[in-house]
Amino acid sequence: MKNKIQSTQKERVMRDDDFIVSKTDLKGLITYANEIFIEYSGYSQEELFRTQHNIIRHPDMPRAVFDLLWKTLKSGQEFSGYVKNMSKDGGFYWVFANVTPSYDSHHNMIGYYSVRRKPSRQAIDVVEPIYKEMLSAEKRTAAKNAIQVSTELLLAKLAQQGVSYDQFALSI
Ligand SMILES: Cc1cc2nc3c(=O)[nH]c(=O)nc-3n(C[C@H](O)[C@H](O)[C@H](O)COP(=O)(O)O)c2cc1C
Repeated sequence: MKNKIQSTQKERVMRDDDFIVSKTDLKGLITYANEIFIEYSGYSQEELFRTQHNIIRHPDMPRAVFDLLWKTLKSGQEFSGYVKNMSKDGGFYWVFANVTPSYDSHHNMIGYYSVRRKPSRQAIDVVEPIYKEMLSAEKRTAAKNAIQVSTELLLAKLAQQGVSYDQFALSI
């Protein structure tokens, strides 16, 4: 379904006081999306409910970023990072996401929770060329090695700056 949408250059810029919120089960199926999510994504509550979160995946996003997101969440940690998302009409919107595991009262992980706010233009300007490099590395590498090669590229950039991805994301 998501692959049938042609991406366009139409950008939606988040307002300063917007929060885009969603919750998923452990498999990444959406169990909740707020009104602002619906506004930016262009999908209805019904279209989103129990749908994989990759429904808004943008083809410009490197796979390695999502690999890092899932590894971080599965290890019980929170993830912060920049994501370019795709709306139902093919337009795009950049977000700064903070994603956390949710637990029940027995500390069993029961799902995930993401709150996104407006990223600064300056942060997008830093991240966009890095993601472009990662994506082109992924495209020219055999599928089974693509994430590893792209992750190494990202880690090398971060090592130059002596920071983790979270620290990097929070510092720009
Ligand atoms: C709580 C939560 C929020 C997520 N938010 C997004 C998002 O805003 N955009 C996105 O492309 N993927 C998001 N993902 C990751 C998707 O589940 C998926 O891994 C990603 O879109 C890559 O798609 P793929 O795994 O089919 O390649 C989220 C995952 C979780 C658990």
